[in-house]
Amino acid sequence: MIARNRRVLALVSGIGGSVLLIALLLNIFERKVESRNPFYKVVEISDDIDDPAIWGKNFPHQYDGYMKTADMTRTKYGGSEALAHVPTDKDPRNMTSQQKTDEDPRLKTMWAGYAFAVDFREERGHAYMLEDQKYTERQNVVKQPGTCLNCHGSTYTLYKKLGNGDITKGFEEMNKIPYKEVVQQVKHPVSCIDCHDATSMSLRITRPAFIEGIRAYKASQGISEYDVNKMATRQEMRTFVCGQCHVEYYFKGDTKRLTYPWSKGLQSR
Ligand code: HEC
Ligand code: HEC
Ligand code: HEC
Repeated sequence: MIARNRRVLALVSGIGGSVLLIALLLNIFERKVESRNPFYKVVEISDDIDDPAIWGKNFPHQYDGYMKTADMTRTKYGGSEALAHVPTDKDPRNMTSQQKTDEDPRLKTMWAGYAFAVDFREERGHAYMLEDQKYTERQNVVKQPGTCLNCHGSTYTLYKKLGNGDITKGFEEMNKIPYKEVVQQVKHPVSCIDCHDATSMSLRITRPAFIEGIRAYKASQGISEYDVNKMATRQEMRTFVCGQCHVEYYFKGDTKRLTYPWSKGLQSR
């Protein structure tokens, strides 16, 4: 009886193993086919769709990668770590990252009188950019302008809406509106449409502040009328799309125009 049970067990696990192996081979095969056919057009994407989940229907692998920015584990390179946060009316996040002003209290002294002294956390992945900006205490000690939103949300369709199709005009309008008001009009963190052309999928720059900053920089190098979307190389674009936000900046004058100070070159001296 026992011997027979063992035989049955061996048979069952043998079948189980084969099923797993076949599943693995099928999966490898599918991935190989997918990589030969860069994409299947499941949905039509237009220049007005900011929802990454819709783009993700055509590009599931890239969408998976995009969603992974929600991961929160510190690696050997540093990065953020998930800290439980009890949601309140004012701050409904159930997870945040380390408070840097607690880790190094000297920052509070150094920045006294400056919004950063009250709240400056470890930065997190793209999935959190919009909520972290909405709920930072820095929104409550200073009345922030719409300018903040340029680097924390999918603003391309909003620029078009506010500027009647002209993104620079929309950018100027957005900067002037109080943050707490204008943020209501944005639904997603940086999305596919902010870096990709909806028809060709090629990279593009959608941030007027970058277009203007890089034009001023090129002018300082003797290149006039630089148009980043026409003149940059593919290799440069791979860096420039990130440089739309990961750069030093200031808000200029009463209109709070987001400005990248590169007209005198890229060095601080
Ligand atoms: C629309 C603006 C924007 C663009 C474009 C952008 N980023 Fe970011 N990125 C952010 C913001 C804002 C954060 C911080 C989010 C937070 O802390 O909630 C961030 C966070 C990150 C982080 C995580 C940092 C950490 O310590 O966990 C990495 C890595 C990163 N970005 C890389 C890139 C790369 C690479 C590109 C280009 C392919 C890029 N970003 C393009 C705005 C942007
Ligand atoms: C030019 C683009 C840009 C603008 C404009 C901008 N941010 Fe950010 N912000 C970033 C980037 C990039 C990061 C990720 C930080 C890093 O990697 O240094 C970030 C990180 C953050 C974070 C997460 C870390 C922290 O400091 O706690 C908050 C909150 C934040 N920004 C709030 C704001 C507010 C409020 C404004 C407006 C006053 C603003 N941001 C304007 C690009 C920008
Ligand atoms: C912050 C900018 C940025 C965002 C946001 C972004 N991408 Fe990309 N994407 C890139 C860059 C950079 C490349 C590499 C382009 C190159 O090789 O020239 C790329 C490449 C691609 C490619 C080409 C194949 C590949 O993997 O290299 C596809 C398809 C793609 N992205 C889809 C998406 C989708 C779908 C989304 C939204 C879920 C998205 N991307 C969001 C910057 C971005």
